[in-house]
Amino acid sequence: MTVAEASPPTASGTDDDVLRLYDRAATQYDLINDLVSFGTSNWYRRRTILSLELPPDATLVDVGSGTGSLALAAQRFLPDSPAIVAVDPSAEMRRLAVKAGVRDVRPGSLDSIPVPDRSMDAVVSGYAIRYAEDLSAAFVEIRRVMRPGGQLVLLEMIVPPSGFRRKLARFLIRGVGSRVLPVLCGSRAAGDLLRHFWNAISSFDPPEVVTAAMVDAGFEDVEYRRVGGLLGEFRARVSDV
Ligand SMILES: C[S@@+](CC[C@H](N)C(=O)[O-])C[C@H]1O[C@@H](n2cnc3c(N)ncnc32)[C@H](O)[C@@H]1O
Repeated sequence: MTVAEASPPTASGTDDDVLRLYDRAATQYDLINDLVSFGTSNWYRRRTILSLELPPDATLVDVGSGTGSLALAAQRFLPDSPAIVAVDPSAEMRRLAVKAGVRDVRPGSLDSIPVPDRSMDAVVSGYAIRYAEDLSAAFVEIRRVMRPGGQLVLLEMIVPPSGFRRKLARFLIRGVGSRVLPVLCGSRAAGDLLRHFWNAISSFDPPEVVTAAMVDAGFEDVEYRRVGGLLGEFRARVSDV
């Protein structure tokens, strides 16, 4: 059974098979990222944090933080922050985030973010919104933790619904990547993760469904832009009052 076809989500809204896969592939995750992005992925995460133009004491939560790259960038650029929190349901990913130097790492998910109401100046999430069991519920939960005027940025891989770019992406990720990466990484889990990536991103909602759910949850200045390749970026704010 592939992860995309897998068993129903747990009570916390996190799919058990997805969690097992991330736990199993966690130690290869950063290497996979570097290989598939030709080393640019962490640069882009740092740029994402800088683009928020937050004051040095801003608070931020990174949801679906994985090995913690966005949270680490936030620690670097927000030196006076009293709270930079990394949240992930995978115990192995959390262990690696702590090892990488993220100071505050907590179990949680898009359905259940373990920080108080209206406590965060920014919420960021890299390549995890695809795992929301219920997009509307996830955006309501994200909004709950945001301070008035707070900013949200989500990075996600967006696959075109049809056409040459979709076929090429499938060929590169599922066809080539899932065969080559296990060899380069020395682990079968890397191939399983790549096959899962394709299943997860190719079945994810189109951008207009995501932006509509953001608007419904009460976000303002909602926008989506295609950055390049498959990378897409969603941004929004909560009102100042
Ligand atoms: C593709 S990784 C992205 C990690 C990191 N944000 C990055 O930029 O590299 C997806 C992460 O989402 C986590 N995840 C899976 N289901 C989730 C859920 N329901 N809510 C939040 N995170 C979830 C996984 O454990 C994994 O660490």
